[in-house]
Amino acid sequence: MMTMPEIERCLRQLRLSGVRDTLQTRVLQAQGTNQPFLETFSLILQDEMDRRQSRLIERRYQHSGLDEKLTLAEFDWSFNPKLPRQTCFQLHTLAFIAAGENALLVGKPGTGKSYVAKAIAYQAILQSHKVQYLETDDFFHRHALSPIAQRETRLRTIIDCDLLVLDDLFLARAIPDDGGALLQTMIHQRYKLRRSIIVASNRVVQDWGTYLGDNTMSTTILDRLMHHCHLLEFDGRSYRLKEAAETLARETKAN
Ligand SMILES: Nc1ncnc2c1ncn2[C@@H]1O[C@H](COP(=O)(O)OP(=O)(O)OP(=O)(O)O)[C@@H](O)[C@H]1O
Ligand SMILES: [Mg+2]
Repeated sequence: MMTMPEIERCLRQLRLSGVRDTLQTRVLQAQGTNQPFLETFSLILQDEMDRRQSRLIERRYQHSGLDEKLTLAEFDWSFNPKLPRQTCFQLHTLAFIAAGENALLVGKPGTGKSYVAKAIAYQAILQSHKVQYLETDDFFHRHALSPIAQRETRLRTIIDCDLLVLDDLFLARAIPDDGGALLQTMIHQRYKLRRSIIVASNRVVQDWGTYLGDNTMSTTILDRLMHHCHLLEFDGRSYRLKEAAETLARETKAN
């Protein structure tokens, strides 16, 4: 029989870190009871499965480009009562990904479009989908500066993932010269493959032609994006201003 350190060494070699982490507990649990061997064994196997699943999710999160793990459960729906709450939760079921549909979140600044987009993206990761989240303006600039080979790999990942989020589109109004063509490629390729995109923007679609500097391109992009699309309008007050006002009130009180 192996000693415990020998077992641990084996488990490390076999990369069974889930088993390694809980083995002592499972042994203690089984000791002094008549727990059948298969029951103990299946608990140990489940530990390994759980560990692998959570590591996969964490890897997918790291790879997605998301910078925070937001959930709709913590969203303050009372602040802006006119928000499309039902549609947000409908999207949160992720049925739109299976159906290859898109979502366009438009409306006033600070009303929670990015929050909702990120929460849906995170939910998709938790459900084992591959997600790419792009701060769109920043992505255009970085992409233009990166080497060609790197650009192609990056574009492949963006086209192949299960859900693409283009957040804060046209926030800076002007995009780099090749940004329009890039946007068109991403949307066209994903449209052909029937893969979902969430776009969030505080710019009305009527003005997209101006930001792209090309009305035909804007029509081409919108046509594909809107074909199978949930339209969500975010109307209301800015949560950022509310938070800023609260901070100001706190600081004034402290002084
Ligand atoms: N209803 C809400 N409950 C909790 N936090 C919120 C809510 N709405 C917005 N926030 C928070 O307020 C800030 C602004 O929200 P968010 O970035 O989602 O707005 P936005 O609609 O994307 O704005 P913009 O058009 O400027 O990009 C974020 O920190 C977000 O987490
Ligand atoms: Mg935003």
